[in-house]
Amino acid sequence: MTTKIIGTGSYLPETIVTNDDLSKIMDTSDEWISTRTGIKERHLVKEENTTFMCVEAAKRALANANMSAEDIELIIVGTITGDHVTPSAACEIQAAIGAKKAVAFDVNAACSGFLFALHTAHAYLQAGIYKNALLLGAETLSKIMDWSDRSTCVLFGDGAGAAVVCTEEQGLLAFEQGSDGAKGHVLACRNRVNNNPLVNNPIELDYVHMDGQEVYKFAVSTVPKSISRVLEKAGVTAEEVDYYVLHQANIRIIQSVAKRLKLSEDKFPISLDHCGNISAGSVPILLDEMNRKGMLKRGDKLILSGFGAGLTWGTALLEW
Ligand code: ACO
Repeated sequence: MTTKIIGTGSYLPETIVTNDDLSKIMDTSDEWISTRTGIKERHLVKEENTTFMCVEAAKRALANANMSAEDIELIIVGTITGDHVTPSAACEIQAAIGAKKAVAFDVNAACSGFLFALHTAHAYLQAGIYKNALLLGAETLSKIMDWSDRSTCVLFGDGAGAAVVCTEEQGLLAFEQGSDGAKGHVLACRNRVNNNPLVNNPIELDYVHMDGQEVYKFAVSTVPKSISRVLEKAGVTAEEVDYYVLHQANIRIIQSVAKRLKLSEDKFPISLDHCGNISAGSVPILLDEMNRKGMLKRGDKLILSGFGAGLTWGTALLEW
């Protein structure tokens, strides 16, 4: 027995911001953004927040799985932008959808968040502790962007993706995950600083800082190796995989991974053109788009791979 995805859902904020829209409020252009990243537009929240987007995505995933919230035993949310320090996004979703018997918690693994949630759920399901789980990857990244830093703020978007998993014969075939905390500084956003009565720190809000070239080098070297190790574990060739559902950071990273694996880019579906980089949301949102377009047939082999801040990475091979 293994872990199978039996339903998907997603939610993107109503407001779409194009590259041209951004060029009206900062010194940038559609030409710069789209040639370097492949991003054309992104969805940004106005009234929505992380919990709201998750609840909508969760309801859609549950309907797609033909399951009710009361049946869910575990909820894990991959996010770095929950609405509160506490309660967790997972607990808020649990309450909002009425998943009364579910155990709920968040995982902080940035762009690998959905993969880490999937692998954590798999461990619980394999151990026989729970029979099913609702998994989410969701971010409101626009609230942690420095909107005066054109080198980062144009890259990211907001949104949520969800999947329902359960124990079944067919599903997850192999996975791996990894972390390299020593390189955490290349993509970081500090939380609030200690300002207790023993110290006198000024309150400073930090925003996302990124060394884009270091992140690029990390991604193009780590992701193909991680995918190759997972394929080797399962005894599956790269050609046998129908789709590579990669974290949607940058078209150049995806093209480089395809090239290193000697694969056609056709096997690498894209959502970054209309979503930008939604960190933990990227993989489940793209998966849901593929599912709803009817691209996925039972038995198709998929690689899911997330990579990013931490640094962290996670790859799964599964049969649909
Ligand atoms: N519009 C116009 N010009 C810009 C912009 C912008 N939005 N941002 C930066 N520039 C300028 C810079 O000021 C610089 O100008 P200068 O040469 O006069 O100093 C020039 O463009 C080049 O800047 P670089 O930062 O060197 O741009 P680079 O070619 O490295 O591209 C990018 C930046 C796209 C981020 C690239 O480093 C990259 O692909 N990195 C991969 C990492 C990534 O995609 N991260 C996303 C999040 S991480 C993750 O999800 C894993």
